[in-house]
Amino acid sequence: MEPVISIRDVAERAKVSVGTVSNVLNRPHIVADATKARVHEAIKELEFVRNESARQLRAGASRTIGLVVLDVANPFFTDVARGVEDAANEADLAVILCNSDGDPAKEARYLDLLDEQRVRGVLITPVGAQDERLARLRQRGISVVLLDQRSRAGDRCSVAVDDVRGGELAVAHLLEGGHTRIAFAGGPPGIQQVKDRFSGAKRAMRKAGRDTAELRRFDDIALSSAAGRRIGATIAELPSGERPTAVFCVNDLMALGLLAEASQRGIDVPGELAVIGYDDIEFASTSTISLSSVRQPRHELGVTAAKLLIDEVENDAHEHRRIVFRPELTVRASSAVTTRDSAAGGRVTG
Ligand code: RIB
Repeated sequence: MEPVISIRDVAERAKVSVGTVSNVLNRPHIVADATKARVHEAIKELEFVRNESARQLRAGASRTIGLVVLDVANPFFTDVARGVEDAANEADLAVILCNSDGDPAKEARYLDLLDEQRVRGVLITPVGAQDERLARLRQRGISVVLLDQRSRAGDRCSVAVDDVRGGELAVAHLLEGGHTRIAFAGGPPGIQQVKDRFSGAKRAMRKAGRDTAELRRFDDIALSSAAGRRIGATIAELPSGERPTAVFCVNDLMALGLLAEASQRGIDVPGELAVIGYDDIEFASTSTISLSSVRQPRHELGVTAAKLLIDEVENDAHEHRRIVFRPELTVRASSAVTTRDSAAGGRVTG
């Protein structure tokens, strides 16, 4: 068994006192940046882990798994987390919930913390490509499963919905409704789900014989209702002849924010502006104007991902799997254009 690297080893490597290393770990705000950088470099080189993880190494593996999500305030992730917790509880495991806020640095800090806590495994919806960090977790015996994103080439398990197909379903529905000026309301362009949903939206335009350049894109720095309100204000302030007649929002929170902005500005939905979201969270159906949405099986995503992780941790014969669910379109008042949609209950499987 490799000797456990001590805080003293880190201090010697960084040429600082043990107390300084302790400050970097516990009170980083009082340490000069240059010193902090030297200590963190020594920690990385020596692969130092803190005492509590060394204790757990001696006492056996912890009974926890980590779940890192982009936005804990988004009901999509709340429903996914519920599925994770249900599966973890069945396996007598607890869940450590981490909220990255879409910030790569915050996500990295949480991954380091979960490493220190020696969790059995990590479920993550990554902000961007954290390949090096996720690979290092695996090297340290911590399994990783991607949630709401597909892994590449089967290098790890993943559970997601076919977001390209989901984006296509959303815009095909708007095109079938006769809309000619369609907008895409997206979040941070670097997030894979946003990229995939936009790709699907463009595919729907091509299949309808339309130029993808006609799909007018509005981006925001967030995937929140406030972001939806900001994009709604931008759209509302366009000259009427230029304003889109329909908008596909990359998730329901944005769509609900945009609906609120349209309502506040007296814009008729769906008459002047049809709206469709993505996730089909509970609030989509209870909104004042019920929201059409592309459904993601949120609880099932969480259960499935947690079960894959637990199997990888406990089953030596585990084989990686990429599970992709099919999206479903649910048509409601915010985009219904004919009695056909409302009569059919509006559910179309992708
Ligand atoms: O995970 C990124 C986005 O995909 C989240 O905003 C969530 O709503 C899902 O749709």
